[in-house]
Amino acid sequence: MSNFPKEFLWGGATAADQYEGAFNADGKSLSVSDILPLSGNGRKWALEHPLEAAKKDYGFYPARESVDGYNHWEEDLELFADMGFSVYRMSVSWPRIFPEYGMDEANESGLEFYDKVIDKARKLGMDIIMTIDHFDTPLWATKNFNGWVDRKMIAEYVKLAQTLFNRYKDKIKYWITFNEINALLNYPLFAGGIDISKCENSLQARYQAAHHQLVASAEVVKSGHKTNPKFKIGSMIAGVVNYPNTPYPLDALEAQETTRRSYFFPDIQARGYYPLYAKKFFEKNNIIIAAEAGDAEILKEGTVDFVSFSYYSSSNISTDTKIKNRKTAGNFSARSSHNDGGVVTWDSSNAVINPYLESSEWGWAIDPVGLRYLLNDLYDRYQKPLMVVENGLGERDEVTSDGKIHDTYRIKYMREHIEQMGLAIEDGIELLGYTTWGPIDIIANSTGEMSKRYGFIYVDRQDNGKGTNKRIKKDSFYWYKKVIESNGANLA
Ligand code: BG6
Repeated sequence: MSNFPKEFLWGGATAADQYEGAFNADGKSLSVSDILPLSGNGRKWALEHPLEAAKKDYGFYPARESVDGYNHWEEDLELFADMGFSVYRMSVSWPRIFPEYGMDEANESGLEFYDKVIDKARKLGMDIIMTIDHFDTPLWATKNFNGWVDRKMIAEYVKLAQTLFNRYKDKIKYWITFNEINALLNYPLFAGGIDISKCENSLQARYQAAHHQLVASAEVVKSGHKTNPKFKIGSMIAGVVNYPNTPYPLDALEAQETTRRSYFFPDIQARGYYPLYAKKFFEKNNIIIAAEAGDAEILKEGTVDFVSFSYYSSSNISTDTKIKNRKTAGNFSARSSHNDGGVVTWDSSNAVINPYLESSEWGWAIDPVGLRYLLNDLYDRYQKPLMVVENGLGERDEVTSDGKIHDTYRIKYMREHIEQMGLAIEDGIELLGYTTWGPIDIIANSTGEMSKRYGFIYVDRQDNGKGTNKRIKKDSFYWYKKVIESNGANLA
């Protein structure tokens, strides 16, 4: 028997800069990911010094070609439809639509690409969840005014969102304003187009940028609802579960504070005002947010319709300095397999290894129960419908002599997470849908690697960019198809 509601949305999610490639086709300009080398070649440094990095010649740039989704989208959508997807979460590439700063008119060729994708997906029976900005800030924003630190970004973003709303008002119902908006604190370049090396007070800059994004998000929720009252517009965070590492009360307090750093964002997007704990945090850290008259009203009037999140792993938070070096990894403490010392610029969490959990090769703890915990936690906090819009296992895959990929480890991971989602629904949470991360192999965001694969569909492309881009169905492809067919009842 299935725990999932009849109209439950099953599907997968990709992001333009990790999937499309075609970095300079049809008028597209560079996005911040287009200037980053593969991890192991100075990616971490480039993330922290993008303006200097942009002047270098790294030779190879993973995002510039990715898996050539720009020329394979039709085949890929047909594969998704073959698995039975009822929804596809995608994003647009901002610099494909507005290649230059201050343009009044959007780049028509860029939009025509998305017209084709959206029309085909709908024809194949898939709804679209559109992420307006998924780590795809145009480089012009970093160059002209250091990205979201500057208030000018609000108008640019609203223009992008309104262009999409007008064009797709009868075709798309679900919208996400920013991918993993809480990542702004850890990933200022990806999530905010910010060259953090140019910021005198890095913490102040991150929270100022956050204020601008929160106002922009609320503003487009308001304008989106005007464009089409049926739109459902949501927030999206990197889902974090922070367990206290021990029953030591200070560990529990530290875990709570770490969690608040993330919940700060949906707290505002879902409730419409700054929580008191944030105001106290700003006071304590001498952070002064420059806000304009009217911002508070916009936040209040632009609350989201649903809360969505990605979920990969959980963390154990410890205040014990003796074990702090036993660090775990995850979205906010991502490491590469090339040992270049991690790829986030503010790994402030005291996350240590959880002895009860296994980890992926990249050190991300595997914790299906954490997903049930998080679903309940978020529902208790907001009482808004939820969506799990990313979940998956990044692992190495091998094409065996039979030409197949027997990814039993991925099936196990997905099965256990879907089971826990079902249990959370039994607990009483309201869940609209589930889109797995990277239903097709794409480049990893943190490291730019191809070898960290999430897909049900294998792509013949290697870390160094070599390969034919041929698509091959993995064992998990057939497994997920059965899951969808049975509405989550058959997980065998
Ligand atoms: C999320 C991002 O943080 O995690 C995705 O929204 C990303 O863009 C995913 O790809 C997995 O991370 P990674 O680094 O393994 O690709």
